[in-house]
Parts: sequence; C-alpha cells; structure tokens
Amino acid sequence: MSVDTTALNRDRHDLSGREDVWLFGYGSLIFKADFPFLESSPATIVGWARRFWQGSHDHRGTPEAPGRVATLVRAPGAVCTGLGYRVSPDVFDHLDFREKNGYLRFTTEMTLADGRHCDGLVYIATEDNQAYLGPAPESEIALHIARSRGPSGDNAEYLLRLANALRELDIDDKHVFEIERYLRSC
Ligand code: SIN
Repeated sequence: MSVDTTALNRDRHDLSGREDVWLFGYGSLIFKADFPFLESSPATIVGWARRFWQGSHDHRGTPEAPGRVATLVRAPGAVCTGLGYRVSPDVFDHLDFREKNGYLRFTTEMTLADGRHCDGLVYIATEDNQAYLGPAPESEIALHIARSRGPSGDNAEYLLRLANALRELDIDDKHVFEIERYLRSC
C-alpha cells in the first residue's frame, strides 16, 4: 500500500448526505484536536489494543529516520478506550491529510461514556503499509522515540502528551505507561 493514504481514504466511505459522523481517536487525536467537533466523549472499542508500532515519516520523524507513533492492533477481547468526536463530514478532508502516513479509515462500533452505542470511523495503520515498523520491546521503543523528531516536533512530546491525556481520562494503558517510564529515564 502506498505510504500516502489520502486518496484511498477519500474513496473509502460515502459521507455525502450525512449531518455528522463519529470519529474514534486513540493517539494524537486524543491530545491534539485541531479540528472543530460538535460533541466529544470518552469512548471504547472492543478487540483492539493501542501500540507504538507505526512509523511516522511526516509528523514525528522523517522518511530517512521515522519516529514511532500509535496504531491499533487486533487483540481479541481487549477494550481500547479513547475519545469519540462527533464531527461534520467535511472535517475528514483535514483528517485524511493529517493521518495520510499509512492510516486507513475503518468503521467501528463504539460505546460512549453515557452508554450510547454508535458506528464511527477510526484511522488504523495496518501492517501492510510502507511506514509500519511492528513490535519491539517497550525499552527499545522508548530509545527510538527519544532520538526521533519531525515536522510536528519531538517524538517524545507525542508519547508524553498521550500518556498525560490518558491519565487525565483515567485510562490505564500498560504499553504506553511502560514506554513512558523508560523514556523518562533515557
Ligand atoms: C488517532 O489518534 O486516533 C490516530 C493515530 C494518531 O494520529 O496518533
């Protein structure tokens, strides 16, 4: 799959005629909501786990020295908590550009904090995208993050802001907090 997924995402879902669409954010979309939204709420999806297994060529690294950012991997039975945003469909023009480095939109069933169930869209970087880095021990991921930076800033800032945002939302994520622990001792 091409590393730039903008065109693929544009053609994936017909959002015409829709007044609003729910988006599930689990990584930078939690701590950097640089788009207008109509409503937001903590939300969960089932069967997925947050992992720093995606390479970043355009935000927290470069094509020559990619950073490491979050994606979701299949994890039967796992519950991933993030933030749901109800947005106008035109927001996806901005999001498709922002998430263009290997992320594809998928439809997911999500549960909002007040118990509502709805279908939403989520950006996932699957293992067949050219920027995918895959698993590594948390200690190595922390070292990788510590030395990476890109046009959006230090890779460490991404990890630390996400960890703080998860804590504020009372979300326990052992993978993220373990990387944070190693990173703070680098
Ligand atoms: C997300 O936050 O939902 C997508 C991945 C990212 O931009 O970090």
